[in-house]
Amino acid sequence: MNSLEIIQKKRDGESLSDIEIDFLIKSYSSGKIPDYQFAAFLMAGFLNGLNKRETSALTKSMLHSGKLVELSSIKGYKIDKHSTGGVGDKTSLIIAPVAASAGIYVPMISGRGLGHTGGTLDKLESIPGFNTSLNLNRFKYVLKKCGAALIGQTKEIAPADKLIYALRSATATIESVPFITASIMSKKLAEGIDGLVLDVKTGNGAFMKSEKEALVLADSLISTAKSFKKKVIAFITDMNQPLGNYIGNWLEVYESLNVLRGDDSSDLYELSVTLSGAMIFLGGKAGSIKEGTEKAKKILMSGKAYDKFLEIVRLQGGDIKIISNPDLYPRSKYNIKLYSPASGCVKSIDTYMIGMAALELGAGRLTKDEVIDHKAGIILNVKTGDHLTKDMIIGEIRTDKKNQIDNSLKRIYNSLEFSKVKGNKIKLIKKTIY
Ligand code: URA
Repeated sequence: MNSLEIIQKKRDGESLSDIEIDFLIKSYSSGKIPDYQFAAFLMAGFLNGLNKRETSALTKSMLHSGKLVELSSIKGYKIDKHSTGGVGDKTSLIIAPVAASAGIYVPMISGRGLGHTGGTLDKLESIPGFNTSLNLNRFKYVLKKCGAALIGQTKEIAPADKLIYALRSATATIESVPFITASIMSKKLAEGIDGLVLDVKTGNGAFMKSEKEALVLADSLISTAKSFKKKVIAFITDMNQPLGNYIGNWLEVYESLNVLRGDDSSDLYELSVTLSGAMIFLGGKAGSIKEGTEKAKKILMSGKAYDKFLEIVRLQGGDIKIISNPDLYPRSKYNIKLYSPASGCVKSIDTYMIGMAALELGAGRLTKDEVIDHKAGIILNVKTGDHLTKDMIIGEIRTDKKNQIDNSLKRIYNSLEFSKVKGNKIKLIKKTIY
């Protein structure tokens, strides 16, 4: 067997055997085949698709590229949440401490920014000192001690996803149901969880643009989780506008801290309490998602989740001073106000454009090894259905990259579509499947 012939087969639209898929994953994970060859496989798979059996084989090979976390010494339900990716999607930072405060263990393995979307790891690493590469023993220690630990794929856990994820992000091969399924489930199944809450995004800022596509992805994720005997709930949620108002790594930590300190006014709050409510329900601490959601709200209002977040940050090496006093965080060289380009009702927001603008300002990567500027990003105080007056202040961009400012402003202003008539507010949670 050789990689070249396997890639040729997929290029020509044939399906691959489980052994061929495993050979390819093992070869890439061990460095026996170079990035350019695996990138060719990714593009062939992206264009020609993988059937259900191939998707399952890919998931298994990626899962077994590393160790499975053994958590039987920790008594209690282990439940995680994963999102399929969006702009301003920072709920993990809120729901992990909320669920942990409810008595559930959250062993969370997350990813970095993917394409135009942000990643939990990059957000956490914007906190000075925060270590997302704990070894397995330390990961278990933190989890046992405070109920939640948040890390990335490592050399020990889901190493294949660590490599493939970064390569997909840089080769325009993200929006594929088989690749997303294998990527998410190989990480989640390695965590030793009992159950999983899935936030499947749909809309112009998501990888699945239509609700129909999102349902196909949800179905693929749910059936994989069930085939591994995991309890699962999936939500189809809207991504036709950024979640919350802050986009960019530290900016998103900052906004999450506001919710953790009791700000209950945003769509970010609404989604966070629903997702953590579902985790609380799956973890047996509530009789329904609704009851779990009420519990999540109380936990947030009591300040327990904020204290839990501080504990997680401290145990993972992060700087507590900056969390307690975010104004100490370094500021970008250029902080430029955004003004409404027109008067009228906001009919739509091109969320992909906003994500790309944030990326170009320094918040994301165009190539695999690009270094992120954690300070960079966008504050956009606009939601679909809002009425704006021309030239009113609607937000701000932050960057050190002078040469990106004009292009980003153009992207942001062009992303806003106005109408004369009053527009509709967007329904955030479209479907619950379990
Ligand atoms: N999240 C992941 O972990 N992987 C994907 O491919 C998309 C979202």
